Order: sequence, then structure tokens, then C-alpha cells
Amino acid sequence: MDPRCTMKSGVLFVMVFTLADAVSMKTQAYFNRTAYLPCPFTKGPNISLSELVVFWQDQKKLVLYEHYLGKEKLDSVNAKYRARTSFDGDNWALGLHNVQIKDMGTYDCFIQRKTSKGSVILQQTDTELSVIANFSKPEIEVQNVTRNSGINLTCSSKQGYPKPTTMYILITNSTNSTHEHSGDMQISQDNVTELFSVSISLSIPFPDGVCNVTTLCVLETESTKIYSRLHNIDLPESRFVQEERKSWIACIIIIVLLITGIVLSYLVKLCWRKQEQPGIS
Ligand SMILES: *[C@@H]1O[C@H](CO)[C@@H](O)[C@H](O)[C@H]1NC(C)=O
Ligand SMILES: *[C@@H]1O[C@H](CO)[C@@H](O)[C@H](O)[C@H]1NC(C)=O
Ligand SMILES: *[C@@H]1O[C@H](CO)[C@@H](O)[C@H](O)[C@H]1NC(C)=O
Ligand SMILES: *[C@@H]1O[C@H](CO)[C@@H](O)[C@H](O)[C@H]1NC(C)=O
Ligand SMILES: *[C@@H]1O[C@H](CO)[C@@H](O)[C@H](O)[C@H]1NC(C)=O
Ligand SMILES: *[C@@H]1O[C@H](CO)[C@@H](O)[C@H](O)[C@H]1NC(C)=O
Ligand SMILES: *[C@@H]1O[C@H](CO)[C@@H](O)[C@H](O)[C@H]1NC(C)=O
Repeated sequence: MDPRCTMKSGVLFVMVFTLADAVSMKTQAYFNRTAYLPCPFTKGPNISLSELVVFWQDQKKLVLYEHYLGKEKLDSVNAKYRARTSFDGDNWALGLHNVQIKDMGTYDCFIQRKTSKGSVILQQTDTELSVIANFSKPEIEVQNVTRNSGINLTCSSKQGYPKPTTMYILITNSTNSTHEHSGDMQISQDNVTELFSVSISLSIPFPDGVCNVTTLCVLETESTKIYSRLHNIDLPESRFVQEERKSWIACIIIIVLLITGIVLSYLVKLCWRKQEQPGIS
């Protein structure tokens, strides 16, 4: 581990192996951020940059940057890398800005010394660059919920790299029992950025005897899990319950009407009797 490299933002880890004369490293960078391609001068004698030629090449031997006897030299730099690099002379590292997925690969850095007999390679460092992008927080979208069709929902997440491993939805009902539901993960890749977007669509049968559920969507990648916000869904009352309630209300109205009728007819009878009584006596 080179502590100078791990301290840089945008670099997740740097590992060092020593293979004969070349040093091999691995580095990881976030999409659209800066990758650091180290070139530590550890083996040579105590020589300053002004006596050396330091340059970086990609796997197609295109030059990213050249530092020639203490000065930046642009003529050999490939157009693809113009204005995308910055050299850090204190740490002997090259920053490659605006990293894209297609920048993944191996980069070689060479440290050469000019002598009267020609140039001698003092050290070579190979760095394997991998690029990652965090998926967006998954979002749940609920389509119409009905007792007959159940709960139809879609969960989606955008612009991550590499491909995620799984995506699923957790449904918790009011009795706190949780069920996991998963479906076919639809993966699409942006043809410009090469980032992935994923979604799943589920149709979940309506749970019996509950009136609301809480849903949570989880996206798993090789290194992490990303959770959506909790989403509450209130379930509509069933038609059966509604109709039962309607018939109860009808029953009560009929009973009330009947009682009123009986009371009224009793009162009417009472009045008739009162009117008839004086005639009898
Ligand atoms: C890359 O980063 C810049 C700002 O640093 C931002 O404006 C741009 O939208 C980003 N591009 C992508 C594809 O994320
Ligand atoms: C390397 O050179 C610098 C000056 O050029 C000097 O200060 C330093 O002590 C030297 N280090 C070693 C290990 O020789
Ligand atoms: C990516 O996610 C990790 C944790 O999941 C976080 O530490 C890191 O800062 C995020 N990076 C970016 C560029 O959003
Ligand atoms: C829910 O999905 C099922 C199966 O995909 C479909 O038959 C039904 O019509 C959908 N319901 C709604 C309200 O979209
Ligand atoms: C969803 O339900 C609303 C009323 O609750 C209705 O207006 C709308 O047409 C329904 N949409 C679909 C696609 O069934
Ligand atoms: C369900 O769990 C939550 C916390 O996990 C708790 O606050 C709540 O009382 C529980 N509900 C029931 C019905 O057990
Ligand atoms: C990307 O895909 C869209 C359609 O999905 C297409 O219209 C466009 O030409 C493609 N762009 C490139 C650069 O391939």
C-alpha cells in the first residue's frame, strides 16, 4: 500500500506487487471522476525529475502524458488524452480526468534516463484501472391497486457499473411478517456512457386480512446493497366488505322505518280510541 495514493480522493484502493523490474498495481476510480495512475520511483538512485523522461502509455501504446527532462512535452500525447491529464510531480502520479467506462484497462508508466549511450529504462509501473459507478437509489412506482388484480409495482435504478447481482422487493404487512418478492431483472446499457439501468416489475397478490403494507426495494451489487425509501400502500376495501356494509345499512334503515311505522300506527290507534271513548260512556 502506498499511503500517498490511497489518500487521494477518487482512488478507492491501490495495490502493489513487485514482479522482477516492473511494478504492477491496481487502481479503481469512479465514473466521470479522476483516476490516479501512480509511477513511484522507488528503485533508482536519487535523481531529480529534471534528469529523467517520465511518460504514460495505454494498452494500445498511445501516450497519455510525457514529462521530458523537467518539462511537459505535448507533441507525443495522443489527441484522445489532450487536456485530460494532470501530473503530480510530488507524488509521481498522473491524474486522468473525466474517467469513462471505456478507459478501463492497463496503463504503463516508464521512467527513463538519458545517457551518452542512449536512454535506459530505470523503472516500469503497470497499473490496471477499473471504473465503477454507484447506482441511483432504487425507486418504487405503484400502479393501481385493486383487490382483484393485486399490487402491481415497478422498482428501478439508474446509471451504475458493473452489472448488479439481484434486485428484489420486501413487503411487510401490519402483522410484521415480511415476504421477499423477486422477478426478472430488466437490464439496459446506455450506448454512450456504457452504464447500466435496471428494473423489476411485479404483480403481487393481495394479502388477506390487511389494509396496508410497507414496501422496500433492494438492489444488490457485488460490493454493496442499496435500499429504496419505504413506501406505504393502503389497500382499498374489498367489494364484498363494501356490499356487506351497504346491506347492513339498508337493514338498519328498514328496521328504523318499521319501528317508526309501528310506533306511528300505535299512536294513531291510541288517538282513535280516545276520540271514540266519550261516545261509549
Ligand atoms: C460528469 O461530471 C460533470 C461535473 O463534474 C457533470 O456536469 C456531468 O453531468 C457528469 N456527466 C455524467 C455523464 O455524469
Ligand atoms: C537526494 O537528493 C536530495 C537533493 O537533491 C538530498 O537532499 C537528499 O538527502 C538525497 N537523498 C538521498 C537518500 O541520497
Ligand atoms: C458510492 O457509494 C459508497 C457507499 O455505498 C460511498 O461511500 C461513496 O461515496 C459513493 N461514491 C460516489 C461517487 O457517489
Ligand atoms: C397487474 O398486473 C397483472 C399481470 O401483469 C395484470 O393482469 C393486471 O391487469 C395489472 N393490473 C393493473 C391495475 O395494472
Ligand atoms: C387508476 O385509478 C384511478 C382512480 O383511482 C383512475 O382514475 C385511473 O384511470 C386508473 N388507472 C388505470 C391505468 O387503471
Ligand atoms: C412491528 O415492528 C415495529 C418495529 O420493528 C414495531 O414498532 C411495531 O410495534 C410492530 N408491530 C406489530 C403489530 O407487531
Ligand atoms: C444509441 O441507441 C439509440 C437507440 O437506442 C440510437 O438511436 C443511437 O443512434 C445510438 N447511439 C450510438 C452512438 O450508437
